[in-house]
Amino acid sequence: MVSTEAFVCSFSENNLPQNAVFTWKSPSNIALVKYWGKTEPQIPKNASISFTLNNCNTVTTVSFEQKEPSENQNIEILFERKPAPSFLPKIRQFIDRILPYSPYLNYYHLKISTENTFPHSSGIASSASGMAALAMCFMSLEKQMNLDISDDYFYQKASFLARLGSGSAARSIKGNLVVWGEHPQIPKSSNLYGIEFPFQVHSNFKDYQDTILLVDKGEKQVSSTVGHNLMHAHPFADNRFKQANQNLSVLSQVLQNGDLSEFIRIVESEALSLHAMMMTSNPYFILMKTNTLQIIEKIWEFRKSTNTHICFTLDAGANVHVLYPFKEKKKVKSFILKELVPFCQKNQYICDRLGQGSELML
Ligand code: PMV
Repeated sequence: MVSTEAFVCSFSENNLPQNAVFTWKSPSNIALVKYWGKTEPQIPKNASISFTLNNCNTVTTVSFEQKEPSENQNIEILFERKPAPSFLPKIRQFIDRILPYSPYLNYYHLKISTENTFPHSSGIASSASGMAALAMCFMSLEKQMNLDISDDYFYQKASFLARLGSGSAARSIKGNLVVWGEHPQIPKSSNLYGIEFPFQVHSNFKDYQDTILLVDKGEKQVSSTVGHNLMHAHPFADNRFKQANQNLSVLSQVLQNGDLSEFIRIVESEALSLHAMMMTSNPYFILMKTNTLQIIEKIWEFRKSTNTHICFTLDAGANVHVLYPFKEKKKVKSFILKELVPFCQKNQYICDRLGQGSELML
């Protein structure tokens, strides 16, 4: 088993480049088996698995400029090319957390320029893609200092670092299906970083589609940090963690044998279980909106009457991810446009599909 010590980087001051610039594009992901509940430092209470998205990305450029380690570190942040000082506390906290593993960061001033390819304040969380893109830029610098780093280590440590910024970011590094969290039936799975789903995936899931319906684009009333914390004293927590791990065991088989009905059963149950945890925590809260439920009912009706394999999942919010196989795209898409889009805020939605992971741009 790989331990945290494996990710401590030792370096020589002589190897530090004076300046360096890297740009990475990292995707968002949507969990099929959800992570909800953690212990310090960002250790999940159960294993999770996600689809990597293709079109919802954060593109981040980090410019590193060498400084004395004793000198204060300047961090300049641009979001969509405009100064974004409000991002600073989160990024400082992230850097403080990862410094023991990437101490070379203390030798640089940072200029960070970031933007999302999905609409601003769409209710799509950018923390996974944002933290993943930053972690990739930091790892590119580390690689420049130490060319011997293997590809496996590069991606594994990137996921390890990203996890310390936002748990689900561990799943936005590499691969189209990513498991994060130790699970007895998933070899090499770890609580410290995500791994690519290690088995052959059935062709039914090739190019799987995700149409994201933007039901509510407002700020969430309850942040995921608060939500995770509420799982500590939650009366159903232990059973929920067991359920998630069992669901991952079944889903692992399903992804290999292509059983779409079983896929639907698990994925929808996971979405509703996540929200059931929210509704039964103390204090309780509801992130779904009336239109979220309307969409779910419409999906169920359509599935029943057409025998298609459309299903839904939810993140920690009101938006609905509509999932379906590529070969049913034509039929499902016209249903979505006609019947579901009217429930979206300003009729907005995003067409996405299974993606590959982070990409070096420069
Ligand atoms: O990564 P966080 O701390 O924002 O938590 C994300 C939790 C969910 O998105 C609700 C589920 C998941 O597994 O992605």
